[in-house]
Amino acid sequence: MAFPVTRLRRLRYNGVLRQMVTETKLSADDFVMPLFVVSGTNVRNHINSMPGNYQLSVDQLVIECKNIYASGVRAVLLFGIPPVKDEDGSVACEHNGIVQQAIRALKEAVPGLYLIADVCNCEYTTHGHCGTIIDGDVDNDATLITLARQSVSLAEAGADMIAPSDMMDGRVGEIRTQLDANGYNKIPIMAYSAKYASGFYGPFREAAESAPKFGNRATYQMNPANSNEAIREVEQDIIEGADIVMVKPALSYLDVIYRVKNEFNMPVAAYNVSGEFSMLKAAAEKGWIDGPRVMMEILTSIKRAGADIIITYHAVEAANILNGKQ
Ligand code: PBG
Repeated sequence: MAFPVTRLRRLRYNGVLRQMVTETKLSADDFVMPLFVVSGTNVRNHINSMPGNYQLSVDQLVIECKNIYASGVRAVLLFGIPPVKDEDGSVACEHNGIVQQAIRALKEAVPGLYLIADVCNCEYTTHGHCGTIIDGDVDNDATLITLARQSVSLAEAGADMIAPSDMMDGRVGEIRTQLDANGYNKIPIMAYSAKYASGFYGPFREAAESAPKFGNRATYQMNPANSNEAIREVEQDIIEGADIVMVKPALSYLDVIYRVKNEFNMPVAAYNVSGEFSMLKAAAEKGWIDGPRVMMEILTSIKRAGADIIITYHAVEAANILNGKQ
């Protein structure tokens, strides 16, 4: 049937009906809130380029996480900024590493909160690259060793999930093997599978103090022009044992999220990264866009594209809107 019998506007006149036929519904369960942990006590450094986000010492992180939990958001992704860095990121593997301390404190203070630990070397190395440098290059196979050690140490501290973001080849397999060998076969791996070399990470690198001191990440992160390659990356991670695969960033890569969701029967996560967050906040601050409205539209688009899990700095603000608290 065509017009005039078919009138698509018929389903749009009434608000109740519009709600009933809404295809994509966000919920606080979809969100993961990223957080930055620093050493010290009573530290709450505002990250200028990411309004409302802070580098937090463990005591402050606990307070923040209680508020996050109260908003209905049930999962956080932890990044650490250690007091000292080294050549190969070994500080990330220490029993008393900054994230390890945070995990132990949170498990005790906010037991219902699901703790995802980011695994990467860039916040822990003096040079800011995601692995061990040999002959001027981030050496793939040497880096696998530290990544797996870091993962086991985080699992030992009580992390509920391990999320490697380094983009070395073979890291999911190596991490899975070492987790299993150490008795952590119940801990899932969420792999940053299709992670692009993106300008959208700018504010994060300020927040995590992880900008590379020389060169860039183009020899390990993906070229933004490629999507067939994303499928190959995701496929490898699934073969190696990833439980959840991720596309990152989200907004400029909705087509990649869509392809990954359609090609594999896997839970897909999307990372709505720092630059995406900051752009929205900056435009809203200038009064050029309606911030909360655009935020909900963006998060809905990411879910509509196929993401099951959305990692976003908007998590609490969006959950408050969804739960009628704002
Ligand atoms: C570290 C890492 C980065 C992000 C998450 N993990 C930055 C990078 O690769 O330089 C970016 C997150 C964001 O921008 O919000 N490997």
